[in-house]
Amino acid sequence: MEKAFTVAIDGPAASGKGTIARAVAAHFGFAYLDTGLLYRATGAKVAEGMTPVAASESLSPQDLQRDDLRSGAAGTAASKVAAIPEVRAALVAFQQGFARRPGGAVLDGRDIGTVICPAAEVKLYVTASDETRAQRRFAELSPSDPDLTLAQVLQDLRDRDARDSARATAPLKPAGDALVLDTSHLSIDEAVAQAVAAVEVGMS
Ligand code: DC
Repeated sequence: MEKAFTVAIDGPAASGKGTIARAVAAHFGFAYLDTGLLYRATGAKVAEGMTPVAASESLSPQDLQRDDLRSGAAGTAASKVAAIPEVRAALVAFQQGFARRPGGAVLDGRDIGTVICPAAEVKLYVTASDETRAQRRFAELSPSDPDLTLAQVLQDLRDRDARDSARATAPLKPAGDALVLDTSHLSIDEAVAQAVAAVEVGMS
């Protein structure tokens, strides 16, 4: 596809949106942007002493490739800087440029369908029960963090969701025209198949 075509995928932490977004992008040959990485990298630079706005304005491709961005602590730091309107504003142009590149793009995050790309051709809101999401995140993080407990992961997710949903600027919520995909009782293959079908409808 030569023209721009944007797939916006939003949802809470560990809902499966990243896995689905990556698979949809691979299926259609679209570019993929994990927008959470922008906030995670900003949070990491703030932890090293930069101000949030300077950190978000100076992000480089290398900043997005740091190995330490996947941890629970990096997610919490990301969620905190993501509540600052000036940080969000500094990241808008890059995300919108990515979304409208020729050839199609999939972006996942919290505000893609509502704020960054309100005119996206396809919008999905991927969610799952708190317990399902905590179990998934626990399975992902516990091999490298043996002291972690499921209860702690569940509490961290709930705190993060509450912060992401309650903030004044670009809170986590489904766009009015998003298709809601609850992955609590779906396998990865089933969830991806439903997302691919939704994109095919959007392309036809
Ligand atoms: O998707 P993630 O878990 O990597 O996101 C980390 C944090 O970044 C999330 O808790 C809130 C913030 N975020 C955001 O506010 N807007 C986005 N588009 C993506 C992430």
